[in-house]
Amino acid sequence: MAWAAGTRAMSDPFPEAEPEPSPERTAEGLKTLRLMLWLLVALVVGAGAIVMLAPDRTPPAGNGAYPDTIGGPFALTAPDGTRVTDETLKGKPFAIFFGFTRCPDVCPTTLSRMAQWRGQMGADGDKFQIVFVSVDPDTDSPADIGRYVDLFGTPILGLTGTNEEIDAAVRAYRAFYQKVPTAAGDYTIDHTASVYLMDADGRLQGIISYDETNTNALAKLKRLVG
Ligand code: NI
Repeated sequence: MAWAAGTRAMSDPFPEAEPEPSPERTAEGLKTLRLMLWLLVALVVGAGAIVMLAPDRTPPAGNGAYPDTIGGPFALTAPDGTRVTDETLKGKPFAIFFGFTRCPDVCPTTLSRMAQWRGQMGADGDKFQIVFVSVDPDTDSPADIGRYVDLFGTPILGLTGTNEEIDAAVRAYRAFYQKVPTAAGDYTIDHTASVYLMDADGRLQGIISYDETNTNALAKLKRLVG
């Protein structure tokens, strides 16, 4: 293939056979490599400095254990038709929970336990609100929710709203719910089972998980009002 070889020889700026690198060229290569490594180090250090100097967008909440990214603006409707927002709730700590009135287990269990813990707190039990948000506006009217929360024998603020309003509240709390069809052609709703403990400024102070022990939950509620 003389033709191909000839073409290659004409267009290839490098010699056909690369000579062994001279000691000078090797040293030059090492110098370049070291320079590149130093540049890389400078870039990493620089990036680290930028991260450290940048304003912290998620400052820790009250006790520093939870991010401020949980909780935020919402607007919902109380059983009597009053609008309730994150702003109107400010001034008193609250424990907020998402669910639905037809919930067979998680909601009634949680609201019963909340009522029980509040009872055990004596006068301190009045220093926080319990807020129950229904994520099932197709079934739960504000009045339905009012009747439901009255079953637990302690003041509970029941709320709901349009699907958009509920979704906004759920998003603000990084919570979750999902309608799940049942075999009977009905539906149930999977939902976050944690209770969010918000301080008087509407900042997350703690979370009571579904399997929290009574002792731990009580300690968290006492800290909430402390
Ligand atoms: Ni439930």
